[in-house]
Amino acid sequence: MSVRNRVEVMHGVNLDQLGRRDPGHYGEMSFDALEVRIQGMAGELGLQARFFHTNHEGEFVEHLHRLEGLSDGLVLNPGAWTHYSYAIRDALELTRLPAVEVHLSDIEHRETWRRTSVISDLCLATVSGKGVDGYREALERLRSELSA
Ligand code: DQA
Repeated sequence: MSVRNRVEVMHGVNLDQLGRRDPGHYGEMSFDALEVRIQGMAGELGLQARFFHTNHEGEFVEHLHRLEGLSDGLVLNPGAWTHYSYAIRDALELTRLPAVEVHLSDIEHRETWRRTSVISDLCLATVSGKGVDGYREALERLRSELSA
């Protein structure tokens, strides 16, 4: 059987502004540095990470449409779209890929509107409030799913 280790790491709206956003919630790391860290973590876990970011909801949706046959699992931080985008939810459901939702900040203990995630029930797990380390947890969860 072929190895299932291809992980698509998808970042949504405003995540590219890391480094300029409230460090109390998001830390000081730049977006580029975040992706380098995630790449390193994935490599240590024997996973092949590929990255996608957009600030346009339709592009995020279309990227999900295009993943068939190209990816074995997903790590997703859709930013604010998490809380209301049924379009992203429907597209995620279409992929039928195992997915883990990640948030750098602790969405359960911020504004009440951030407590809703319209994708969480489609995901194997949600990791929130653990900063960059949350991505390691997400990748580990996916790895155990893909090797099961
Ligand atoms: C976020 C949390 C969202 O509520 C917010 O809109 C973001 C980032 C996080 O990583 O903590 O843009 O997804």
